[in-house]
Amino acid sequence: MIAANSSDKKRIAVIPGDGIGIDVTVEAVKVLKAAAAAGGKTLELTEFDWGADRYLKDGTTLPEGAEDMLRRDFDSVFVGALGDPRVPSMKHAADILLGLRFKLDLYVNSRPVVLLDKRLTPLRDRDEKDIHFIVFRENTEGLYVGMGGIFKKGTPDELATQEDINTRKGVERIIRYAYEYARKHKLTKVCMSDKSNALRFGHDLWQRVFAEVQKEYPEIESNHWYVDALTMQMVKNPAQFQVIVTCNMFGDIVSDLGAQLVGGLGLAPSGNIHPGKLSMFEPVHGSAPKYAGKNVSNPMAAIQTVAIMLDHLGWTAEADAVNNAVRAAVHEGKTTRDLGGPLGTREVGDWLADYVSKQGVAR
Ligand code: IPM
Ligand code: MN
Repeated sequence: MIAANSSDKKRIAVIPGDGIGIDVTVEAVKVLKAAAAAGGKTLELTEFDWGADRYLKDGTTLPEGAEDMLRRDFDSVFVGALGDPRVPSMKHAADILLGLRFKLDLYVNSRPVVLLDKRLTPLRDRDEKDIHFIVFRENTEGLYVGMGGIFKKGTPDELATQEDINTRKGVERIIRYAYEYARKHKLTKVCMSDKSNALRFGHDLWQRVFAEVQKEYPEIESNHWYVDALTMQMVKNPAQFQVIVTCNMFGDIVSDLGAQLVGGLGLAPSGNIHPGKLSMFEPVHGSAPKYAGKNVSNPMAAIQTVAIMLDHLGWTAEADAVNNAVRAAVHEGKTTRDLGGPLGTREVGDWLADYVSKQGVAR
């Protein structure tokens, strides 16, 4: 017998989290297993109960040393969603999700915006060829670092600060990643978005780094929109965009706008990536507690997220098989109600897993 190539086996840490995160993760795992089986690959899945229940039970959010354990024992991390009304401070979500983004230094938040069927966009007279781009959101700095404080809390003289951190290294690596992605995928345009007309220090750095890095990619057209104008352009003329690169806060906002252009959060996947290192994959949507356990949430974003993860792991044929299944389901109306279909969460997962098994994986 020939020993399996080590790249034929992957160890995945699965964190279903809270609310519908649990529902969609069941379906994502179903499709993940179907894709691996179809490709003759081996998976080792390990589930972690990090989330609101665990936090409320024993106070654990992200256990001590979790990032080292994950780096040592796993090839990638899959997350469903985090957030629970019983934890209004969102402490566990911040510790787990933002904690892993920071501790694993996952500086690329990759959020594709791809229209699968023109019926799904709220924009008039736009079809699949008009909305096909990717947002790279800086994921380790900016307003998200948690620097700041509150002084005289609860008094009329209260003061709150929230620092916006932009480092040359941080800005440069995300802008460079955007250009490298464009080059690798033979794309011709990169758009950087900031607010340098108002944020004269932090985003002046973005301007200067952008001007420097773009010189190394002369074959790629570089454009810039201030973020307010960017949101208008995304609605007015989305076809102009191929790659958008922006800071953490703006990336959070424009990726939700992008999601709505292609059918909503039910079709918005994401990867939190550090090239060459352990990375984490999660749908963009939250835990939608009121729909939890009701078999109504759309698992497609989680399943498209599986495809991004497979691609990152180098299992590109399996990733394509998963994306093809989602596309087919959308075209055939095998969807949940948010996309106009009659199916429940489980039925969509079953249909997609079955499609992947029947179609197999291209070799
Ligand atoms: C996202 C989410 C998170 C973020 C929240 C839950 C902290 O909105 O992944 O876009 O702002 O990054
Ligand atoms: Mn968000």
